[in-house]
Amino acid sequence: MSKSPENITSFVLFGALGDLSLHKLIPAWYYLERENMLSDELKILGVARQDLTKEQFQKKILGALNSFVASEYLDDDVCTKLLGRLDYCCCDLQRPESYPNLEQSLKGWSKPIAYYLAISPSLFEQVCDGLNSINILTSLSRIVVEKPIGYDLESSKEINSKLLKHFTESQIYRIDHYLGKETVQNLIALRFANSLFSSQWSNKGIESIEITAAESVGIEDRWGYFDGVGQMKDMVQSHILQLLCLIAMEPPNRLNDQGIRSEKVKVLESLKPLGEAEIEKNFVTAQYADGEILGTKVPGYTNEKNAQNASGTETFVSIKAEIQNWRWSGVPFYLRTGKRMASKTTQIVVQFKSDGHYIFDQKREKLKGNTLVISLHPTESISLEVYTKPHGVDNNKGLRSDPMSLDFIKTQKLLNIPSGYQSLLMDILQGDQSLFLCKEEVELAWQWCDNALESHKKSDQELYCYPAGSNGPRESELLIQSDGHRWYE
Ligand code: BG6
Repeated sequence: MSKSPENITSFVLFGALGDLSLHKLIPAWYYLERENMLSDELKILGVARQDLTKEQFQKKILGALNSFVASEYLDDDVCTKLLGRLDYCCCDLQRPESYPNLEQSLKGWSKPIAYYLAISPSLFEQVCDGLNSINILTSLSRIVVEKPIGYDLESSKEINSKLLKHFTESQIYRIDHYLGKETVQNLIALRFANSLFSSQWSNKGIESIEITAAESVGIEDRWGYFDGVGQMKDMVQSHILQLLCLIAMEPPNRLNDQGIRSEKVKVLESLKPLGEAEIEKNFVTAQYADGEILGTKVPGYTNEKNAQNASGTETFVSIKAEIQNWRWSGVPFYLRTGKRMASKTTQIVVQFKSDGHYIFDQKREKLKGNTLVISLHPTESISLEVYTKPHGVDNNKGLRSDPMSLDFIKTQKLLNIPSGYQSLLMDILQGDQSLFLCKEEVELAWQWCDNALESHKKSDQELYCYPAGSNGPRESELLIQSDGHRWYE
């Protein structure tokens, strides 16, 4: 992918002691350090409200490394090198008079600077105004924001307009961490570098596509956040629609930010809106009840810690989506995501069409087409199920199906770490926006989700129920079975 020339070596991390920072970003910096990917000049300033010295901050970060980096990858020298890059600034982001502290801390740091907002979106405006007030922003500064960008179309427009007050679109890096995952990036290579697939990649060769992001974890102590959001806004609006875009987009004319983003925008524009008429057949929402995962009893959604007795929030969604364009007309895209399901599985399943005439076993009418499974979790792999003749002289009539697999962790000796943040952090430093979302993508995705949720509210369809530890409600099975398909388990 094309890189713009300016490499940044000054990085400010707002919310440096928050969950996102400690669980994901700090370990990602660690793995980059371990791989010798970071320039010697790189400096990271942690910003948070707690009154800490630099040494106390470093101690907390060391604690996070011990907790969130897999012990087999922990190395004292790497920790020391990373800690040596860190400095700390205590700043109450809501108080304009705190920002001169930040200015002071950044005295002598090389410009331009990347500012990563690992904080609540309600603070974005104050931080941008605060940075502006200390005259620290230049046309080359970068600002990084995480999902959720709003909770509906209106609020996301508001956030975008606040960011655009001080930054141009080319300075804004909107993260969807799924795009940093190795297999997701490999999807682009698979589709556009392999003629075997590119020649089949349309309604001519493909019967259906399924995207599943199932998690076995529940809501636990995130109830307060999640109950106001639900699975549609938490997962579909961002991760699931991004996967859909990458699987369905046209080949970009260049593999750069503009090329990729404009093709993704076209997919989102072609998504058939889910109006009231479609909801009944094509949309299922559900909530998990008490159940069992790996032999352990787990509480239902409304029995989780800090939960209220009743809630209409969905923890599971399945959808049959349609892309109304020349390439995909007639191909169903089945989307499914839920919390507290049987296992953590994130995968895209491409079902190819079968050949018209079946010659192997005349009693069977038809052979199912080949299946391509692109797995993001539990493995990072791509596997194509192909038919072969079973071994032996008597077995020449039937066929067996076996996977031809590429496991990236084994073949490319990848570290077994499921976060996509390493590559995204490098892209921020190097100024490559290809894997970050543009304003239009975020807003189109909200528009589609808002519309579906609105139609669902108006419809008579109930919120179904599924036992924790299952693959979702029966209605989700029926949604796909009515087309003669089954979820790939
Ligand atoms: C986050 C959601 O964006 O993605 C969480 O807010 C979800 O609810 C998480 O658990 C899943 O990410 P991953 O990388 O573990 O699949």
